[in-house]
Amino acid sequence: MTNNDTAPRIAIAQAGAHVGETVTIPGWLYNLRKSGKIAFPLLRDGTGIIQCVAVKSALPEALFETIIGLTQESSIVVTGKVRADARATGGYELDLEDLEVIQRVPESDPYPITPKEHGIEFLMDHRHLWLRSQRPHAVLRVRHEIIKAVRDYFDSNGFTLVDTPIFTPAACEGTTSLFEVNYFEDEKAYLTQSGQLYSEANAMAFGKVYCFGPTFRAEKSKTRRHLTEFWMVEPEMAYAGLEDVKRVAEEMIVFIVHRVLENRRAELKTLERDIAKLEAIQAPFPRIHYDEAVKILNAKGSPIEWGGDFGGTDETLLVQDYDRPLMVDGYPTAIKAFYMAPDPDRPEVALGVDVLAPEGYGEIIGGGQRIHDLDLLLRRIEEHNLPKEAFNWYLDLRKYGSVPHGGFGMGIERCVSWLCGLEHIRETIAFPRMLYRIRP
Ligand code: 4AD
Ligand code: MG
Repeated sequence: MTNNDTAPRIAIAQAGAHVGETVTIPGWLYNLRKSGKIAFPLLRDGTGIIQCVAVKSALPEALFETIIGLTQESSIVVTGKVRADARATGGYELDLEDLEVIQRVPESDPYPITPKEHGIEFLMDHRHLWLRSQRPHAVLRVRHEIIKAVRDYFDSNGFTLVDTPIFTPAACEGTTSLFEVNYFEDEKAYLTQSGQLYSEANAMAFGKVYCFGPTFRAEKSKTRRHLTEFWMVEPEMAYAGLEDVKRVAEEMIVFIVHRVLENRRAELKTLERDIAKLEAIQAPFPRIHYDEAVKILNAKGSPIEWGGDFGGTDETLLVQDYDRPLMVDGYPTAIKAFYMAPDPDRPEVALGVDVLAPEGYGEIIGGGQRIHDLDLLLRRIEEHNLPKEAFNWYLDLRKYGSVPHGGFGMGIERCVSWLCGLEHIRETIAFPRMLYRIRP
Protein backbone atom coordinates (compact mmCIF):
# COMPACT_ATOMS: atom_id res chain seq x y z
CA MET A 1 0.00 0.00 0.00
CA THR A 2 1.37 3.40 -0.81
CA ASN A 3 -0.30 6.75 -1.03
CA ASN A 4 2.98 8.54 -1.75
CA ASP A 5 2.11 9.21 -5.35
CA THR A 6 -1.35 10.63 -4.82
CA ALA A 7 -1.43 12.25 -1.36
CA PRO A 8 -0.58 15.96 -1.32
CA ARG A 9 2.87 16.70 0.04
CA ILE A 10 2.63 19.22 2.89
CA ALA A 11 4.73 20.76 5.64
CA ILE A 12 3.83 20.08 9.28
CA ALA A 13 2.91 23.74 9.77
CA GLN A 14 0.12 23.27 7.19
CA ALA A 15 -1.46 20.25 8.90
CA GLY A 16 -4.37 22.33 10.19
CA ALA A 17 -5.59 22.93 6.64
CA HIS A 18 -5.72 19.18 5.90
CA VAL A 19 -7.69 17.67 8.77
CA GLY A 20 -9.34 14.43 7.65
CA GLU A 21 -7.13 14.18 4.57
CA THR A 22 -4.33 11.78 3.81
CA VAL A 23 -1.10 13.69 3.26
CA THR A 24 2.60 13.01 2.79
CA ILE A 25 5.20 14.78 4.94
CA PRO A 26 8.94 14.50 4.36
CA GLY A 27 11.12 14.97 7.43
CA TRP A 28 13.30 13.37 10.07
CA LEU A 29 12.58 11.13 13.04
CA TYR A 30 12.78 13.34 16.11
CA ASN A 31 11.93 10.69 18.63
CA LEU A 32 10.17 7.33 18.87
CA ARG A 33 7.98 5.96 21.63
CA LYS A 34 6.64 2.42 21.36
CA SER A 35 4.52 0.12 23.45
CA GLY A 36 3.81 -3.32 22.03
CA LYS A 37 1.22 -3.00 19.31
CA ILE A 38 1.51 0.72 18.83
CA ALA A 39 4.34 3.13 18.03
CA PHE A 40 4.55 6.92 18.07
CA PRO A 41 7.20 8.27 15.72
CA LEU A 42 7.68 11.99 16.28
CA LEU A 43 8.37 13.67 12.96
CA ARG A 44 10.08 17.02 12.51
CA ASP A 45 10.45 18.88 9.23
CA GLY A 46 11.77 22.32 10.17
CA THR A 47 8.29 23.87 10.26
CA GLY A 48 7.09 21.93 13.27
CA ILE A 49 6.80 18.59 14.99
CA ILE A 50 3.92 16.14 14.62
CA GLN A 51 3.27 12.88 16.38
CA CYS A 52 2.43 9.95 14.10
CA VAL A 53 0.45 6.99 15.35
CA ALA A 54 1.43 3.60 13.91
CA VAL A 55 -0.94 0.76 14.85
CA LYS A 56 0.46 -2.72 14.24
CA SER A 57 -2.84 -4.28 13.22
CA ALA A 58 -3.49 -1.56 10.63
CA LEU A 59 -0.15 -1.85 8.84
CA PRO A 60 1.73 -4.50 6.85
CA GLU A 61 3.93 -6.46 9.27
CA ALA A 62 7.22 -5.54 7.59
CA LEU A 63 6.35 -1.86 7.68
CA PHE A 64 5.55 -1.94 11.40
CA GLU A 65 8.85 -3.74 12.04
CA THR A 66 10.68 -1.02 10.06
CA ILE A 67 8.99 1.69 12.10
CA ILE A 68 9.80 0.25 15.50
CA GLY A 69 13.40 -0.22 14.39
CA LEU A 70 13.84 3.41 13.33
CA THR A 71 16.71 5.41 14.77
CA GLN A 72 16.82 9.08 15.79
CA GLU A 73 17.28 11.56 12.91
CA SER A 74 16.75 8.96 10.18
CA SER A 75 15.25 10.72 7.18
CA ILE A 76 11.74 9.48 6.46
CA VAL A 77 8.71 10.34 4.36
CA VAL A 78 5.44 9.56 6.12
CA THR A 79 1.94 9.28 4.73
CA GLY A 80 -1.15 9.34 6.88
CA LYS A 81 -4.41 10.98 7.78
CA VAL A 82 -4.36 14.25 9.74
CA ARG A 83 -6.44 14.29 12.91
CA ALA A 84 -7.04 17.26 15.19
CA ASP A 85 -6.07 16.53 18.77
CA ALA A 86 -6.06 19.32 21.31
CA ARG A 87 -3.63 17.42 23.56
CA ALA A 88 -1.00 16.90 20.87
CA THR A 89 2.03 19.18 20.39
CA GLY A 90 1.02 21.48 17.57
CA GLY A 91 -2.63 20.38 17.88
CA TYR A 92 -2.60 17.57 15.28
CA GLU A 93 -1.65 13.94 14.93
CA LEU A 94 -1.09 11.77 11.90
CA ASP A 95 -2.60 8.28 11.66
CA LEU A 96 0.19 6.58 9.82
CA GLU A 97 -0.57 4.66 6.62
CA ASP A 98 2.85 4.45 5.02
CA LEU A 99 6.45 5.34 5.71
CA GLU A 100 9.43 5.43 3.39
CA VAL A 101 12.94 5.41 4.81
CA ILE A 102 15.31 7.67 2.87
CA GLN A 103 18.34 7.06 5.07
CA ARG A 104 18.44 5.08 8.26
CA VAL A 105 20.97 6.22 10.85
CA PRO A 106 22.91 3.06 11.81
CA GLU A 107 22.86 1.87 15.46
CA SER A 108 26.63 1.50 15.26
CA ASP A 109 27.04 5.27 14.82
CA PRO A 110 23.96 6.85 16.40
CA TYR A 111 22.97 10.52 16.25
CA PRO A 112 25.20 12.16 18.87
CA ILE A 113 22.64 14.55 20.36
CA THR A 114 20.20 12.54 22.45
CA PRO A 115 17.30 13.89 24.51
CA LYS A 116 19.53 13.76 27.62
CA GLU A 117 21.40 16.90 28.76
CA HIS A 118 24.64 17.76 26.98
CA GLY A 119 27.29 20.28 27.94
CA ILE A 120 27.50 23.51 25.97
CA GLU A 121 30.97 22.76 24.52
CA PHE A 122 29.73 19.41 23.22
CA LEU A 123 26.71 21.09 21.68
CA MET A 124 28.81 23.86 20.11
CA ASP A 125 31.17 21.24 18.64
CA HIS A 126 28.09 19.64 17.09
CA ARG A 127 26.47 22.91 16.10
CA HIS A 128 25.86 21.59 12.56
CA LEU A 129 23.53 19.00 14.10
CA TRP A 130 22.37 20.91 17.17
CA LEU A 131 20.54 23.35 14.86
CA ARG A 132 17.88 20.65 14.50
CA SER A 133 16.94 20.86 18.18
CA GLN A 134 14.10 23.03 19.38
CA ARG A 135 16.07 25.66 21.25
CA PRO A 136 18.50 26.73 18.49
CA HIS A 137 15.67 26.40 16.02
CA ALA A 138 13.56 28.87 18.01
CA VAL A 139 16.43 31.34 18.41
CA LEU A 140 17.19 31.36 14.70
CA ARG A 141 13.55 31.88 13.81
CA VAL A 142 13.46 34.92 16.10
CA ARG A 143 16.66 36.09 14.41
CA HIS A 144 14.99 35.79 11.01
CA GLU A 145 12.01 37.78 12.27
CA ILE A 146 14.29 40.52 13.63
CA ILE A 147 16.19 40.79 10.33
CA LYS A 148 12.96 40.93 8.36
CA ALA A 149 11.56 43.58 10.70
CA VAL A 150 14.72 45.67 10.37
CA ARG A 151 14.50 45.57 6.59
CA ASP A 152 10.77 46.29 6.60
CA TYR A 153 11.28 49.23 8.93
CA PHE A 154 13.88 50.92 6.73
CA ASP A 155 12.25 49.94 3.43
CA SER A 156 8.97 51.53 4.49
CA ASN A 157 10.57 54.69 5.89
CA GLY A 158 12.31 56.01 2.80
CA PHE A 159 15.72 54.35 3.21
CA THR A 160 17.50 52.79 0.22
CA LEU A 161 19.51 49.62 0.81
CA VAL A 162 23.05 50.23 -0.47
CA ASP A 163 25.45 47.55 0.75
CA THR A 164 29.08 48.33 1.47
CA PRO A 165 32.31 46.40 0.80
CA ILE A 166 33.80 43.75 3.07
CA PHE A 167 37.39 44.17 1.85
CA THR A 168 38.45 47.64 2.95
CA PRO A 169 41.73 49.57 2.74
CA ALA A 170 41.37 51.31 6.12
CA ALA A 171 40.02 51.12 9.67
CA CYS A 172 36.64 52.54 10.67
CA GLU A 173 36.47 51.60 14.36
CA GLY A 174 40.08 51.77 15.53
CA THR A 175 43.17 49.95 14.36
CA THR A 176 43.41 47.48 17.23
CA SER A 177 40.60 45.23 16.08
CA LEU A 178 41.39 44.78 12.38
CA PHE A 179 41.61 41.45 10.59
CA GLU A 180 44.26 41.79 7.93
CA VAL A 181 44.12 39.77 4.72
CA ASN A 182 46.45 39.51 1.75
CA TYR A 183 44.88 41.22 -1.20
CA PHE A 184 46.93 39.89 -4.14
CA GLU A 185 50.65 40.73 -4.55
CA ASP A 186 51.61 43.67 -2.40
CA GLU A 187 48.33 44.94 -1.09
CA LYS A 188 46.94 44.51 2.36
CA ALA A 189 43.23 44.73 2.96
CA TYR A 190 41.14 44.54 6.12
CA LEU A 191 37.83 42.84 6.75
CA THR A 192 35.33 45.61 7.39
CA GLN A 193 34.54 46.62 10.99
CA SER A 194 31.58 48.73 9.87
CA GLY A 195 30.08 49.93 6.60
CA GLN A 196 29.61 53.42 8.00
CA LEU A 197 32.23 55.36 6.05
CA TYR A 198 30.82 54.05 2.77
CA SER A 199 27.27 54.57 4.00
CA GLU A 200 28.17 58.24 4.47
CA ALA A 201 29.06 58.44 0.76
CA ASN A 202 25.84 56.61 -0.07
CA ALA A 203 23.79 59.01 2.07
CA MET A 204 25.14 61.98 0.10
CA ALA A 205 23.91 60.22 -3.04
CA PHE A 206 20.55 58.86 -1.80
CA GLY A 207 19.64 60.92 1.26
CA LYS A 208 18.68 58.04 3.55
CA VAL A 209 20.40 54.66 3.20
CA TYR A 210 21.20 51.55 5.15
CA CYS A 211 23.66 48.74 4.74
CA PHE A 212 23.28 45.33 6.30
CA GLY A 213 26.00 42.76 6.29
CA PRO A 214 28.70 40.87 8.12
CA THR A 215 31.32 42.88 10.01
CA PHE A 216 34.50 41.73 11.70
CA ARG A 217 36.35 42.64 14.89
CA ALA A 218 39.65 41.08 15.89
CA GLU A 219 38.84 41.83 19.51
CA LYS A 220 40.52 39.60 22.03
CA SER A 221 37.47 39.81 24.27
CA LYS A 222 36.11 36.56 25.57
CA THR A 223 32.76 37.78 26.85
CA ARG A 224 29.16 36.74 26.42
CA ARG A 225 28.61 39.77 24.15
CA HIS A 226 31.46 39.52 21.64
CA LEU A 227 31.74 37.72 18.35
CA THR A 228 34.60 38.20 15.88
CA GLU A 229 32.12 38.05 12.99
CA PHE A 230 28.69 39.61 13.44
CA TRP A 231 25.94 41.18 11.36
CA MET A 232 25.26 44.87 11.61
CA VAL A 233 22.55 47.08 10.19
CA GLU A 234 23.68 50.65 9.65
CA PRO A 235 21.35 53.46 8.59
CA GLU A 236 22.86 56.79 7.59
CA MET A 237 20.99 60.05 6.91
CA ALA A 238 22.03 63.28 5.20
CA TYR A 239 20.81 66.55 6.76
CA ALA A 240 20.40 64.84 10.12
CA GLY A 241 21.73 65.34 13.63
CA LEU A 242 21.98 63.43 16.91
CA GLU A 243 18.28 63.87 17.73
CA ASP A 244 17.25 62.33 14.39
CA VAL A 245 19.55 59.41 15.04
CA LYS A 246 17.96 58.81 18.45
CA ARG A 247 14.45 59.03 17.07
CA VAL A 248 15.11 56.49 14.31
CA ALA A 249 16.88 54.11 16.70
CA GLU A 250 13.95 54.26 19.11
CA GLU A 251 11.34 53.77 16.39
CA MET A 252 13.22 50.87 14.85
CA ILE A 253 13.63 49.03 18.15
CA VAL A 254 9.95 49.42 19.05
CA PHE A 255 9.01 48.18 15.56
CA ILE A 256 11.24 45.10 15.88
CA VAL A 257 10.01 44.16 19.34
CA HIS A 258 6.37 44.43 18.26
CA ARG A 259 6.99 42.24 15.23
CA VAL A 260 8.69 39.55 17.28
CA LEU A 261 5.83 39.60 19.79
CA GLU A 262 3.33 39.44 16.96
CA ASN A 263 4.87 36.57 15.00
CA ARG A 264 7.19 34.60 17.26
CA ARG A 265 5.25 33.94 20.48
CA ALA A 266 5.66 30.17 20.13
CA GLU A 267 9.43 30.48 19.80
CA LEU A 268 9.64 32.86 22.77
CA LYS A 269 7.65 30.32 24.77
CA THR A 270 10.05 27.52 23.81
CA LEU A 271 12.85 29.77 25.07
CA GLU A 272 10.89 30.50 28.27
CA ARG A 273 11.28 34.21 27.60
CA ASP A 274 9.47 36.53 29.99
CA ILE A 275 7.09 38.16 27.48
CA ALA A 276 6.00 40.91 29.88
CA LYS A 277 9.54 42.30 29.77
CA LEU A 278 9.26 42.68 26.00
CA GLU A 279 5.75 44.08 26.13
CA ALA A 280 7.15 46.93 28.24
CA ILE A 281 9.33 48.13 25.34
CA GLN A 282 7.51 51.30 24.30
CA ALA A 283 8.59 54.79 23.24
CA PRO A 284 9.82 57.08 24.67
CA PHE A 285 13.07 55.53 25.89
CA PRO A 286 14.82 57.26 28.78
CA ARG A 287 17.71 59.52 27.73
CA ILE A 288 20.62 60.54 29.94
CA HIS A 289 23.91 62.36 29.41
CA TYR A 290 27.25 60.69 30.06
CA ASP A 291 27.89 63.17 32.94
CA GLU A 292 24.76 61.96 34.69
CA ALA A 293 25.55 58.31 33.92
CA VAL A 294 28.92 58.63 35.67
CA LYS A 295 27.20 60.12 38.75
CA ILE A 296 24.63 57.33 38.83
CA LEU A 297 27.39 54.74 38.53
CA ASN A 298 29.44 56.30 41.32
CA ALA A 299 26.36 56.35 43.55
CA LYS A 300 25.94 52.64 42.83
CA GLY A 301 29.51 51.94 43.83
CA SER A 302 31.30 51.83 40.46
CA PRO A 303 34.82 53.32 40.58
CA ILE A 304 34.41 54.86 37.09
CA GLU A 305 35.78 58.41 36.65
CA TRP A 306 34.71 61.03 34.15
CA GLY A 307 36.55 60.24 30.91
CA GLY A 308 36.44 56.47 31.20
CA ASP A 309 34.48 54.07 29.02
CA PHE A 310 31.75 51.89 30.51
CA GLY A 311 32.42 48.23 30.96
CA GLY A 312 29.77 45.52 30.83
CA THR A 313 29.21 45.78 34.58
CA ASP A 314 28.69 49.55 34.35
CA GLU A 315 26.16 49.09 31.55
CA THR A 316 24.26 46.57 33.64
CA LEU A 317 24.22 48.89 36.66
CA LEU A 318 22.98 51.78 34.52
CA VAL A 319 19.95 50.00 33.08
CA GLN A 320 18.88 48.44 36.40
CA ASP A 321 16.34 51.17 37.08
CA TYR A 322 14.67 51.02 33.66
CA ASP A 323 12.32 48.58 31.98
CA ARG A 324 13.24 49.76 28.46
CA PRO A 325 16.37 50.63 26.49
CA LEU A 326 18.42 53.51 27.84
CA MET A 327 20.00 56.11 25.55
CA VAL A 328 23.25 57.59 26.80
CA ASP A 329 24.73 60.50 24.86
CA GLY A 330 27.61 62.93 25.29
CA TYR A 331 30.45 60.44 25.82
CA PRO A 332 33.93 62.01 26.02
CA THR A 333 35.23 62.73 22.53
CA ALA A 334 38.58 61.21 23.49
CA ILE A 335 37.19 57.68 23.88
CA LYS A 336 35.09 57.74 20.71
CA ALA A 337 35.90 57.07 17.05
CA PHE A 338 37.70 59.72 14.96
CA TYR A 339 34.59 60.64 12.93
CA MET A 340 32.33 61.61 15.88
CA ALA A 341 31.18 65.23 15.82
CA PRO A 342 32.07 67.17 18.98
CA ASP A 343 29.30 69.03 20.80
CA PRO A 344 29.74 72.65 19.59
CA ASP A 345 29.04 74.00 23.10
CA ARG A 346 31.35 71.49 24.80
CA PRO A 347 33.88 70.00 22.38
CA GLU A 348 35.19 67.56 25.00
CA VAL A 349 32.01 65.52 24.59
CA ALA A 350 30.71 63.97 21.38
CA LEU A 351 27.32 64.07 19.65
CA GLY A 352 27.18 60.32 19.90
CA VAL A 353 24.70 57.92 21.49
CA ASP A 354 24.80 54.38 22.77
CA VAL A 355 21.59 52.45 23.31
CA LEU A 356 21.82 50.03 26.22
CA ALA A 357 19.33 47.17 26.31
CA PRO A 358 17.49 46.42 29.56
CA GLU A 359 18.08 43.35 31.75
CA GLY A 360 21.84 43.75 31.50
CA TYR A 361 22.18 42.98 27.78
CA GLY A 362 24.44 45.98 27.27
CA GLU A 363 25.08 48.13 24.22
CA ILE A 364 23.02 47.14 21.22
CA ILE A 365 23.42 50.35 19.24
CA GLY A 366 26.22 52.88 18.77
CA GLY A 367 25.94 55.93 16.58
CA GLY A 368 25.63 59.67 16.33
CA GLN A 369 26.41 62.72 14.27
CA ARG A 370 29.54 62.75 12.08
CA ILE A 371 32.10 65.52 11.63
CA HIS A 372 31.19 67.39 8.46
CA ASP A 373 33.88 70.07 8.61
CA LEU A 374 36.89 69.25 6.42
CA ASP A 375 39.62 70.82 8.60
CA LEU A 376 38.39 69.27 11.81
CA LEU A 377 38.12 65.84 10.19
CA LEU A 378 41.67 66.15 8.83
CA ARG A 379 42.91 67.02 12.31
CA ARG A 380 41.16 64.00 13.80
CA ILE A 381 42.61 61.64 11.22
CA GLU A 382 46.08 62.93 12.16
CA GLU A 383 45.42 62.71 15.92
CA HIS A 384 44.29 59.11 15.51
CA ASN A 385 47.39 58.31 13.43
CA LEU A 386 45.30 57.09 10.53
CA PRO A 387 46.80 56.97 7.01
CA LYS A 388 45.44 60.08 5.29
CA GLU A 389 45.82 58.67 1.75
CA ALA A 390 43.36 55.88 2.55
CA PHE A 391 40.78 58.48 3.56
CA ASN A 392 41.06 60.85 0.58
CA TRP A 393 37.76 59.69 -0.86
CA TYR A 394 36.10 60.10 2.56
CA LEU A 395 37.48 63.64 2.83
CA ASP A 396 35.98 64.42 -0.61
CA LEU A 397 32.56 64.08 1.02
CA ARG A 398 33.49 67.14 3.13
CA LYS A 399 34.67 69.09 0.06
CA TYR A 400 31.74 68.56 -2.24
CA GLY A 401 28.43 69.48 -0.68
CA SER A 402 29.17 68.58 2.93
CA VAL A 403 26.10 68.55 5.23
CA PRO A 404 25.41 67.54 8.84
CA HIS A 405 24.66 63.82 8.83
CA GLY A 406 24.49 60.88 11.13
CA GLY A 407 23.45 57.30 11.67
CA PHE A 408 24.00 54.27 13.82
CA GLY A 409 24.88 50.61 13.83
CA MET A 410 22.95 47.84 15.56
CA GLY A 411 24.55 44.45 16.08
CA ILE A 412 21.90 41.89 15.15
CA GLU A 413 23.26 39.24 17.48
CA ARG A 414 23.14 41.56 20.50
CA CYS A 415 19.51 42.26 19.65
CA VAL A 416 18.70 38.54 19.24
CA SER A 417 20.40 37.77 22.53
CA TRP A 418 18.29 40.37 24.32
CA LEU A 419 14.94 39.52 22.74
CA CYS A 420 15.44 35.78 23.24
CA GLY A 421 16.74 36.30 26.78
CA LEU A 422 19.93 34.30 26.15
CA GLU A 423 22.90 33.86 28.46
CA HIS A 424 25.48 34.07 25.69
CA ILE A 425 25.76 35.56 22.23
CA ARG A 426 27.11 32.29 20.75
CA GLU A 427 23.57 30.97 20.32
CA THR A 428 22.34 33.92 18.24
CA ILE A 429 23.97 32.92 14.95
CA ALA A 430 24.05 29.54 13.24
CA PHE A 431 27.83 29.21 13.20
CA PRO A 432 29.40 31.64 15.68
CA ARG A 433 32.93 32.93 15.25
CA MET A 434 34.61 33.83 18.53
CA LEU A 435 38.09 34.23 19.98
CA TYR A 436 38.36 30.50 20.66
CA ARG A 437 35.93 29.12 18.10
CA ILE A 438 36.06 28.98 14.34
CA ARG A 439 34.61 25.43 13.96
CA PRO A 440 32.38 23.85 12.73
O1 4AD B 1 29.55 50.77 18.54
P1 4AD B 1 30.10 50.22 17.26
O2 4AD B 1 31.53 49.84 17.24
O3 4AD B 1 29.76 51.32 16.16
C1 4AD B 1 30.10 51.28 14.85
O4 4AD B 1 30.67 50.36 14.30
C2 4AD B 1 29.59 52.44 14.08
N1 4AD B 1 30.44 52.62 12.89
C3 4AD B 1 28.15 52.20 13.69
C4 4AD B 1 27.54 53.35 12.93
O5 4AD B 1 27.39 54.41 13.49
N2 4AD B 1 27.19 53.13 11.68
O6 4AD B 1 29.24 48.94 16.85
C5 4AD B 1 27.86 49.06 16.65
C6 4AD B 1 27.14 47.88 17.27
C7 4AD B 1 27.30 47.76 18.79
O7 4AD B 1 26.42 48.61 19.46
C8 4AD B 1 26.98 46.30 19.00
O8 4AD B 1 25.57 46.09 18.94
C9 4AD B 1 27.57 45.65 17.78
O9 4AD B 1 27.67 46.65 16.78
N3 4AD B 1 28.91 45.10 18.07
C10 4AD B 1 29.16 43.80 18.27
N4 4AD B 1 28.34 42.72 18.30
C11 4AD B 1 28.90 41.53 18.54
N5 4AD B 1 30.22 41.33 18.74
C12 4AD B 1 31.08 42.37 18.71
N6 4AD B 1 32.38 42.16 18.87
C13 4AD B 1 30.55 43.68 18.47
N7 4AD B 1 31.09 44.91 18.37
C14 4AD B 1 30.07 45.76 18.12
MG1 MG C 1 30.04 51.16 20.48
